[in-house]
Amino acid sequence: MADKVTAPKIRGMKANGSKVVCLTAYDAYFGRLADESGVDLILVGDSMANVVLGYSNTVPLTLEEMAHHVRAVRKGVSRALLVADLPFGYYNASVDQAVNSAVELMKAGAESVKLEGDYTEAIEAMVKAGIPVMGHVGMTPQSVNNFGGFKVQGKGEAGDDVLRKAKAIEDAGAFSIVLEVIPSTLSKRITEALQIPTIGIGAGPDCDGQIQVFHDALGLSRETFRHAKRFVEGENLLLQGIKDYACEVRNESFPAAENGF
Ligand code: KIV
Repeated sequence: MADKVTAPKIRGMKANGSKVVCLTAYDAYFGRLADESGVDLILVGDSMANVVLGYSNTVPLTLEEMAHHVRAVRKGVSRALLVADLPFGYYNASVDQAVNSAVELMKAGAESVKLEGDYTEAIEAMVKAGIPVMGHVGMTPQSVNNFGGFKVQGKGEAGDDVLRKAKAIEDAGAFSIVLEVIPSTLSKRITEALQIPTIGIGAGPDCDGQIQVFHDALGLSRETFRHAKRFVEGENLLLQGIKDYACEVRNESFPAAENGF
């Protein structure tokens, strides 16, 4: 495919000033919708733990669950770069563990992996093994227990540490980096300091691109978040469709003659 998006192309978008549009997806159907809409990068995010599997955070997600969903999304995505999240506990123990987990997700169909935090030796080893890596700093949800909740990170002097981590991740060979729920002034500093594109979520307008969780952006979640915008009220549309179906079955207007054989 001529305009297939690759990790080097995403990296190059910073130099030519094109905003990188990123969205999560967790199955073939939503992956296909995102791909056909021209999204540049589709992340099989570990946010699936919350929005698909019903957990209260991303900590319980397993590598097997992630690989299962990567295989599904792969079937719907052909143009966008397909990135898979390394779940908590599958890269934190050692460089070997990180590389082995990343290889498993690549074999499932990912074209890159994302991991949270400055695991720079693991990033170097994965890049050496041929795996493009996306970094992730700021409010990294897998560390919710350290943070004591989903709180804004990098306020005041703590911003220097987030910038230091982002720089180390770039130096280790990452092709882009997610900045999550940090002050807009800090993400501007980081974006100016790095050569690789910064992808923001709750990180203000100065990032080189943006990412949203599919269910948040499409109005499919009950909660509303300051870092997200509901571009359509998807849940209302779906509820109305299901109610209409139930109503027509009960009043016997569905199935009609044209639905029969
Ligand atoms: O899992 C996820 O959806 C993410 C994005 C919010 C960046 O990591």
